[in-house]
Amino acid sequence: MARVYSIVSGKGGTGKTSSAINLAAALNSLGEDVIVVDANISTPNVGIHLGAPIVPVTLNHVLTNRAEVTEAIYKHESGLKILPSSLSTQDLGRIKHENLVQVVKQLKRLSKYIILDSAAGLGKETEASILASDEVIIVTQPEMPAVTDALKAVKLCEQLGKPVKGFILTRHRWKKSEMQVENILDMLEIPAVGLIPEDKNMQKALMLKSPIVNSYPKSKASKAYFETARRLLGIKEEKGFFERIFGS
Ligand SMILES: Nc1ncnc2c1ncn2[C@@H]1O[C@H](COP(=O)(O)OP(=O)(O)OP(=O)(O)O)[C@@H](O)[C@H]1O
Ligand SMILES: [Mg+2]
Repeated sequence: MARVYSIVSGKGGTGKTSSAINLAAALNSLGEDVIVVDANISTPNVGIHLGAPIVPVTLNHVLTNRAEVTEAIYKHESGLKILPSSLSTQDLGRIKHENLVQVVKQLKRLSKYIILDSAAGLGKETEASILASDEVIIVTQPEMPAVTDALKAVKLCEQLGKPVKGFILTRHRWKKSEMQVENILDMLEIPAVGLIPEDKNMQKALMLKSPIVNSYPKSKASKAYFETARRLLGIKEEKGFFERIFGS
């Protein structure tokens, strides 16, 4: 049975796209069949992160009934499948975001894991992404404005009746000045599914247009994304940081 995760944060720039592509690429490297969908239609990032910024057929064409979903799927050199959105703003007004549910239903027949990268904010576009998913993964950073918006995202999921799998904390630097993981757990009242350290290789991977898990697989962030992917697959880790902090 295919599984669909939407990656949502509320606040912009928290690491949604980085998490969507790296989680997808890690699952792909672990032998799973994955499609990553750029459900951030107004400000798409997936194609930019993966070096396919301009492609002939996009999710925009599918959502406006101008193409079949299979025509808009591309393969990254790593083997990861991508369904990108258009960088053009031309057809934005015509897009029916609610059609995403049907598109995702079709994708479920094509791959085992579907990862939806979402737009910043909690508007119609993000709502469509949440509604099209089976479970939501909230991405946040260790600072109050990001965690406050993450809490709003959790509440929105509750209102929409969508289960939240947990949160991924990005750009963690283990500093006293940051919000502490225990406080974030208390505030959000959802499990942690990933703890991604600040890693300068993230910027280098972006320049290479390759997920960090492929370009720098031994880097700190890559190891953390692999650990997150294994947790999603239910593969038990040896006793490590997660077990000590999160007690699972
Ligand atoms: N663990 C990390 N270490 C260092 N830099 C990171 C890390 N995670 C993300 N970044 C950087 O943070 C910036 C924002 O990340 P990203 O584009 O993934 O955020 P986003 O939530 O998708 O943004 P938007 O809301 O605009 O779509 C990027 O430059 C990315 O390289
Ligand atoms: Mg993004």
